[in-house]
Amino acid sequence: MSSITSISALDVPRIKSDFPVFEERFDGRELAYLDSANSSQKPRQVLEGLTEFYEHSYANVHRAVYELGERATAGYEGAREKTRAFLGADSTREIIFTRNGTEALNLVAHAWGLNELGPGDVVVSTVLEHHSNFVPWQYVAERTGAEFAVIGADGNGELDLEQLDAIAGRGRVRLVAFGLISNSIGSVNPVEALIGWAREHGAVTVVDACQAAPHRTLDVASLGVDFLALTGHKMLAPSGIGVLWGRQALLNSMEPFNLGGEMIRSVTIEETTWNELPNKFEAGTPPIAQAYGLGLAIDYLTRVGLERIEAHEHDLTTYAMERLAGADGVSVLGPPAERRGGIVSFTLDSAHPHDVAQILDSHGVAVRAGHHCTQPAMDHFGISATTRASFYLYNTRTDVDRLVEALADVRATFA
Ligand SMILES: Cc1ncc(COP(=O)(O)O)c(C=O)c1O
Repeated sequence: MSSITSISALDVPRIKSDFPVFEERFDGRELAYLDSANSSQKPRQVLEGLTEFYEHSYANVHRAVYELGERATAGYEGAREKTRAFLGADSTREIIFTRNGTEALNLVAHAWGLNELGPGDVVVSTVLEHHSNFVPWQYVAERTGAEFAVIGADGNGELDLEQLDAIAGRGRVRLVAFGLISNSIGSVNPVEALIGWAREHGAVTVVDACQAAPHRTLDVASLGVDFLALTGHKMLAPSGIGVLWGRQALLNSMEPFNLGGEMIRSVTIEETTWNELPNKFEAGTPPIAQAYGLGLAIDYLTRVGLERIEAHEHDLTTYAMERLAGADGVSVLGPPAERRGGIVSFTLDSAHPHDVAQILDSHGVAVRAGHHCTQPAMDHFGISATTRASFYLYNTRTDVDRLVEALADVRATFA
């Protein structure tokens, strides 16, 4: 992940002008959209590019021999190449398009986990994970008789690596799954330590990059992981597209996930053989336009510069934490700004997070309230929900000011 020093600032007004949603007024106000960790807004470059694709280049991919089909295939495969470059992967064969991040993680759980795991094996996740990187591992452990172990966290929501030895004592560590950045409280996980430990035990590593890929430069080669999942809708792309990157040797050794068209080499009544990567894991008509849109989103993010986006979000996070620290009745969860992504989760002494979010909405401030699909993390903190503000390239300090001012109103309402 990149350094956040000496990077030129983002031209946020110009960026904002690329996003049609910010031209709308909500009760006469511009939207303070602080929910990008949930899903991001989309720039014109993606929206218009998609319209153009549907109007001039749309057909099914890989099957058509006519011009339109060739254009569609070029658009779809072009997006795969952009994704490869974006992740620093060696080959487009390692880039599998899925419906979302959840499906990418389930692909590994089903196609690797169900076949490779058994009694005596340990499958490791963390207490901070999104359910998408927790439930599949819990499930495959139960199905295969493997142990399911969960790395706990401290009061700051940072993983407690002292638990690793005890986990290793429970059996043969075969798989370690963790996120780069927690979606509920924003903590950045100690990637190198976790990967080093997994390697010591010869375990496969699965990294959930859904909250990192939109905001930070990633390079699968230097990360040294085996699988990495991301989701397009959080990084300016349309919904309906996710990515699984995996090492070719591992992907080749795996059984297929979904079965049907496109993923076969030949089918007879007696036997079916599998296609080569990546098609082996892309059964059926793929998310053609969605993948194309992901390619456009990658173009946009690359043009703006992920290092600059990360630095901008770091500034907003630091500012938000300072302002919230001075706000009455607000308790922020998680580590200090330097060890978190652009996510600030908090509770308010006098109001439930859902009520907070509703009143913030009446101020034109959009946040998420709930358990953020991380119930084990909420249990860890002894709460059921938080209010979460999350930042992206189109946010400003003014958005943070509006959040803090609206929170004062919530407090007054519930006093
Ligand atoms: C850390 C993390 N992992 C996985 C997911 C799942 O992504 P999707 O809902 O696109 O499948 C999310 C979405 O909130 C997430 O924040």
